[in-house]
Amino acid sequence: MPGTTTTTDFAARMVNGRKTYGKDDMVVHALDGIDVEIPRGKFTAVMGPSGSGKSTLLHTLAGLDVLTSGSSFIDDIELSALAERDITKVRRDNIGFIFQSFNLIPSLTGEENIRLPQDIARRSVDQEWFDSVIDVLGLRDRLDHLPAELSGGQQQRVAVARALVARPKIIFADEPSGNLDSRSGGELLNFLRRAVKEFGQTIVMVTHDPTAASYADSVLFLADGKIVDRIDKPTADSVLERMKSLGE
Ligand SMILES: Nc1ncnc2c1ncn2[C@@H]1O[C@H](COP(=O)(O)OP(=O)(O)OP(=O)(O)O)[C@@H](O)[C@H]1O
Ligand SMILES: [Mg+2]
Repeated sequence: MPGTTTTTDFAARMVNGRKTYGKDDMVVHALDGIDVEIPRGKFTAVMGPSGSGKSTLLHTLAGLDVLTSGSSFIDDIELSALAERDITKVRRDNIGFIFQSFNLIPSLTGEENIRLPQDIARRSVDQEWFDSVIDVLGLRDRLDHLPAELSGGQQQRVAVARALVARPKIIFADEPSGNLDSRSGGELLNFLRRAVKEFGQTIVMVTHDPTAASYADSVLFLADGKIVDRIDKPTADSVLERMKSLGE
């Protein structure tokens, strides 16, 4: 129906999400009542001071960690209602990850690492898509190298290729440009933005960097486990301004 919003307009969402660590007087409310909707086919950045809950939000949205209470959804699948085994399957079939630490397997070549999630899921890789990802990321002559034979930026690009080649419904990235020099970081962010604009990829990215956040379609601001603000069509200046007002 025109004008009606269905849940599937969102690649992921959370309803009154809470995550508590520790107990008694040591209790930490890492997420303190989060309501958020991640629009499909958009690039969403998550910002906030250290300890504000950014990684916890990413991990609970992605089913890498479970909420203490509340619900999280990938598409219209409620992760919080599933057993661990089923969550693993949802993750494998729908979600890509890019972590700061890359998580590459040291004994596998670049190409083997990139294909690994598809191989594990016994799915074939679309060769045309594989080729375009590899060429755009400039990895063609690095496919036969082991991670230890690659620079930090190249390892990061292998991790990005691994996430993109699987064409997941949603990619979660925690500080993906954090370890890169500004040129490689800018190239990576440009590529992520292209994946969103040209291929309709959905991406959620945690970052500390206002310039990195400006590549996104919108920025969510976290403080003390709550979403306190949001900017659409961010610029580095508007993000910086908002961070100052939030006291980062
Ligand atoms: N496994 C854990 N056990 C206990 N406390 C935790 C655990 N993981 C996170 N926390 C706490 O939850 C809060 C949120 O942590 P989180 O890692 O989500 O913050 P963040 O915004 O990602 O910070 P940073 O920018 O430093 O990465 C912090 O107070 C942190 O100490
Ligand atoms: Mg973090």
